[in-house]
Amino acid sequence: MVISGNPDMLTLVTAEMDNPAPYHLLTSVVAPRPIAWVSTISAAGVPNLAPYSFFNAVAGFPPTVMFSVAYRRSEPREKDTLINVKEVGEFVCHVVDEPLAEAMVKTAVDLPHGISEFDAVGLKAVPATEVRPPRLEGAPVAMECRVTQIVPVEGATNVMVLGQVLRFHIRKDLYRSQLGLVDTVQMQPVTRLGGPVEYTKIGELIHLQTPKSLG
Ligand SMILES: Cc1cc2nc3c(=O)[nH]c(=O)nc-3n(C[C@H](O)[C@H](O)[C@H](O)COP(=O)(O)O)c2cc1C
Repeated sequence: MVISGNPDMLTLVTAEMDNPAPYHLLTSVVAPRPIAWVSTISAAGVPNLAPYSFFNAVAGFPPTVMFSVAYRRSEPREKDTLINVKEVGEFVCHVVDEPLAEAMVKTAVDLPHGISEFDAVGLKAVPATEVRPPRLEGAPVAMECRVTQIVPVEGATNVMVLGQVLRFHIRKDLYRSQLGLVDTVQMQPVTRLGGPVEYTKIGELIHLQTPKSLG
């Protein structure tokens, strides 16, 4: 730890930190993070469902999302999600809302390859339209995606998966058709903070207009 000139601040040098300390620090700073609840399917046809909070939108047109998959710390083997997106090249990305949060964490349990979280947790899979992985029934929004890039993160065991959204499924009551938007507050997304158990709900809504200029 280095004490900076400002007595209110400390600075931490990541090169001096042991794994996984930077992970804990980073995920508590880059927060709240949306959660991609990602369904995939293996070449053998076994569906898989797992949450990823290293997740965001990265392009508007064509609409593109990314999530980042790490090796398990306990053993250097790829997670089923990554194996499946490499094999099949498609995924469905779901929003986790408050009623689904308890089920979502259960799908983060490490199950043997070949066992579907849909069956193990008792979640209903319905066919997707554009892609082979199934869609989770009951999710407020689902985005059917085609994998466009798989990018290893330099120096890390993470692999970034980018996917183009081919089709959105949106619960009708959430869609603000005049604006072409989803009512995000009503969608009740659950987002992740730092540490293994901290999540949050959407807080107070504030409106801020970006000025046209600073003149
Ligand atoms: C809310 C939440 C967010 C997570 N985010 C990530 C993530 O961004 N990257 C990752 O590699 N694992 C993440 N995990 C852990 C995976 O979900 C977990 O390793 C899961 O078992 C992977 O499943 P799979 O092997 O079926 O793909 C997260 C877990 C939870 C509960």
